[in-house]
Amino acid sequence: MQAAKQTEFTLSDSDFNKISAFVRTRTGIVLSERKRDLVYSRLVRRLRALRLDSFAAYCDYLEGPDGDQEHGSLINAITTNLTGFFREAHHFEHLAENVLKPLVRERANGQRRIRIWSSAASTGEEPYSIAMVLRSVVPETGGWDAKILATDIDTDVIAHGKAGRYGADAVERMPEPYRSRYVGPEQGGRVQIDQRVRNLITFKQLNLMDDWPMRGPFDVIFCRNVVIYFDKQEKCVLFDRMAELLQPNGWLYIGHSENLLGITDRFQLQGRTIYRRVS
Ligand SMILES: C[S@@+](CC[C@H](N)C(=O)[O-])C[C@H]1O[C@@H](n2cnc3c(N)ncnc32)[C@H](O)[C@@H]1O
Repeated sequence: MQAAKQTEFTLSDSDFNKISAFVRTRTGIVLSERKRDLVYSRLVRRLRALRLDSFAAYCDYLEGPDGDQEHGSLINAITTNLTGFFREAHHFEHLAENVLKPLVRERANGQRRIRIWSSAASTGEEPYSIAMVLRSVVPETGGWDAKILATDIDTDVIAHGKAGRYGADAVERMPEPYRSRYVGPEQGGRVQIDQRVRNLITFKQLNLMDDWPMRGPFDVIFCRNVVIYFDKQEKCVLFDRMAELLQPNGWLYIGHSENLLGITDRFQLQGRTIYRRVS
């Protein structure tokens, strides 16, 4: 039992448990007791927006006849969307040199198709970084069919990604030549990502816990900084499903604090947080 803090609303153990059970079932995100303050601060806005006077009323609302309408807003409020252009820069150098350049050479005389999935794309910085590398390496002419699917559970971040507009500070440290090639001029403190890279990406809402409509096969999957919130069983199932969607020998990039040890043997480590499908 945690001592109640002096806060505007009371978040009882029972309400916290209901909310965390709902989030876990729907998203795979595990909200331990340590996340209690986070749950409070993220959801207090929802209580105010709905003019509810307690978390107990919020839980009743979630379970009531109009609850379905709130599910998306609850999930959007709970997810942590921290990201950045060329975050974990070694992945993008590897993608260019060890994945895309060899694929372009190998497929020049065959099927000129390349598919990449950014599976927890957040506000779009990750898929745009991939797209800038792809646009730089894969010829624009010659019938290449190269596409990126960018998905996330959170509908707000998907809308942000689709718009392709960012604060000028977000691109300040973007490596050259990507910045000068693919970022438009600053206007009122905002920049627009160039249409040539935007055209490569399809943004869609997708929950990694649900069925996936796409058939693949993908050459590369980015699944970075999302499974940290999942428990082991969910990680095992998820990476097994990702192996199924990848080409044999396809590539998987995961987040800097993650690894697949004891999770799956369908991938072999190739470099720092870089894996290749082996079965
Ligand atoms: C910390 S961000 C990582 C963004 C990016 N991959 C990166 O590494 O910079 C984690 C993202 O995972 C998303 N997410 C959490 N649970 C998810 C789920 N079950 N299905 C799909 N996306 C999920 C969140 O909405 C959030 O945008």
